[in-house]
Amino acid sequence: MTDQQLNAAELDASDPLAALRDEFELPDGIYLVGNSLGALPKAARDYVNTEFDRWSTLGVEGHFTGDLAWKDYHELMTGQLAALTGAMADEVVAMNSLTVNLHLLMVSFYQPTPERHKILIEGHAFPSDHFAVESQIRQRGFKPDESMVLLEPRDGEQTLRPQDILAAIAEHGDELALVLLPGVQYYTGQVLAMEEIAAASHAVGAFVGFDLAHAVGNLELSLHDWDIDFAAWCTYKYLNSGPGGVAGAFVHQRHVNDQRLAKLHGWWGTNKTSRFEMATEFDAIPTVESWQLSNGPILLMASLRASLDIFDKAGGMGPLRRKTEQQIEFFDRRLEESLGDRVENITPKALPERGCQFALRIINDDGRRVFEELEKARVLCDWRHPDVIRVAPVPLYNSFDDIDRFVNILDGIVQ
Ligand SMILES: Cc1ncc(COP(=O)(O)O)c(C=O)c1O
Repeated sequence: MTDQQLNAAELDASDPLAALRDEFELPDGIYLVGNSLGALPKAARDYVNTEFDRWSTLGVEGHFTGDLAWKDYHELMTGQLAALTGAMADEVVAMNSLTVNLHLLMVSFYQPTPERHKILIEGHAFPSDHFAVESQIRQRGFKPDESMVLLEPRDGEQTLRPQDILAAIAEHGDELALVLLPGVQYYTGQVLAMEEIAAASHAVGAFVGFDLAHAVGNLELSLHDWDIDFAAWCTYKYLNSGPGGVAGAFVHQRHVNDQRLAKLHGWWGTNKTSRFEMATEFDAIPTVESWQLSNGPILLMASLRASLDIFDKAGGMGPLRRKTEQQIEFFDRRLEESLGDRVENITPKALPERGCQFALRIINDDGRRVFEELEKARVLCDWRHPDVIRVAPVPLYNSFDDIDRFVNILDGIVQ
């Protein structure tokens, strides 16, 4: 029997990852909003409490004592973050928050000259990315209306055509300093062709960076092999670290020890063995860790570790992506059967162009009203202005039954 014929109960019964749902504390109702804030891993309480206990008993010595010494705590996650992003160990680090990391990385990878000063982003970039780029351009003495190239979908279309992205890169070629795009577009859920975009950017002599907020923990990534220059992501969405969780950063191996790159420095980026000798000569760690400024937020890292351990239990992104593909097929089918002419999914149809998020638009009814009715029915999803309801079945904790029940409830609400 193919998936097409199986019902939710049958799909759940044959789901090898189904038991992972028990690793999470889920709010009452149907939780379909891991694209915004991932669910709480049960073990996060223990991981965080361990650090409270160590703080209580060790005090300041917790920085230097035992396997969980706080001065090295971020290193506990390096292997797991590298596996999730397809990176080498010296290319990934957990630090700061997403927008902060984008700024720090643009300090290094946006080096405008009068000839080459443009940054290509989407016209519908997440506002924080837009503001970050705009302010970087101003900070370097350039003008956003001359240096910011805004990519728009074609008239009447919702998503960017892959060939249009490559054409825009070629068009601005010699003037392009940086291409900064999302791995997954936050509104439409469209996955961009990161490897092709990287190759096209390099072909014109530009650096390329990705905001992976909606991609890490959602897609299989190969940042190293795709030759991405840098990337940053938050961990409170698909990596379930909790609100305001510590973010991640990637810098390609060929840049991590390049002393010519501009960089903002702090003591956490300098040689680990001499750091506490308090020397004032910066001796960069020869890895992405040299972008760190401050000692890390241990409590936030502790909750992230709890979630990363569940990704290990899942066997990494391969099995999770296989479940996502099954959930996409099931969700598509159920929407088509029940709501075909009343709801449009603006996420691209082709599997390589989508992750677990659906961006639903209500055709002949007030989308905001429908969203509010979903909230009343305890369906947790989110509304994005102007007219999209985002729904994301997350393979770590959402069942096929969640999707089925969601479609039934939506069917009862939409006119
Ligand atoms: C695509 C994208 N970029 C940037 C941000 C901003 O993240 P932060 O507040 O962690 O800097 C978000 C937050 O949801 C996002 O979805």
